[in-house]
Amino acid sequence: MDAIGTWENSEIMLRRAEAAGCTAVALTIDLPAIARNTETQTIMTREDERDCEVCHSVMPRKPALQGLNFSKMGTFNPAMTWDVIGKIKEVTNMKVLIKGLEVDSDATLAVQHGADGIIVSNHGGRATDTGRGSIECLPEVIAAVNGQIPVIVDGGIRRGTDVFKALALGASAVGIGRPYVWGLGAFGQAGVERVLDMLNRELIITMTGSGTPAIADIGSSSVLDVGHRVPHGTLGREIL
Ligand SMILES: Cc1cc2nc3c(=O)[nH]c(=O)nc-3n(C[C@H](O)[C@H](O)[C@H](O)COP(=O)(O)O)c2cc1C
Repeated sequence: MDAIGTWENSEIMLRRAEAAGCTAVALTIDLPAIARNTETQTIMTREDERDCEVCHSVMPRKPALQGLNFSKMGTFNPAMTWDVIGKIKEVTNMKVLIKGLEVDSDATLAVQHGADGIIVSNHGGRATDTGRGSIECLPEVIAAVNGQIPVIVDGGIRRGTDVFKALALGASAVGIGRPYVWGLGAFGQAGVERVLDMLNRELIITMTGSGTPAIADIGSSSVLDVGHRVPHGTLGREIL
């Protein structure tokens, strides 16, 4: 959603995703204008002779972009407001997840405007960097949402123990970005499957060692105190 700047093109992409069988769409809100100051990239670009258009072009030759209005292509929309959730729901029956939230006040607004889920994220540090890690932001978002909609967290999930800690703090699920790409780059589909297997296996090992045979048994008492406590077994429905 954050790659297409005009509403006309967004509508086309939404309808296409739904027709392809997608049941949910994530609207990324942490990159509305421009990303961080990518100094290293800027320095390295001087010696980089790769053709970036292979992946980053908006030229009509890319199959994924067929049917879009190229005279109105944009990359970001800094004028976006919370009303966009309602606008998306007028176009599609897909669930709408808001991705890139980090604070409780935004979580409250997302719920008020009809979001079906939240992904607590800082874009893997690619949008907002050097601030709090997304796992640190999770408890206040969980508290604000108060069980009304699922809360997913991503950023730095590398081991099953990280999954366990996120669940213990009340997350409904976790997302991964780089790990699956590393698996893909190394071994293709088999590599991605291996990454998922490792995460699941490590999660089970951690659950076994923690005496939590079911996901619902994982509570905040299993992790170090971070200032917020989630009642055991409620997966963040409420914060004491
Ligand atoms: C190379 C790269 C490109 C990304 N592009 C997008 C994007 O277009 N939209 C988006 O919402 N998130 C994007 N992300 C962020 C991921 O969706 C995800 O939030 C993040 O990678 C999670 O952190 P992790 O990599 O530590 O697991 C990108 C991440 C990487 C590493």
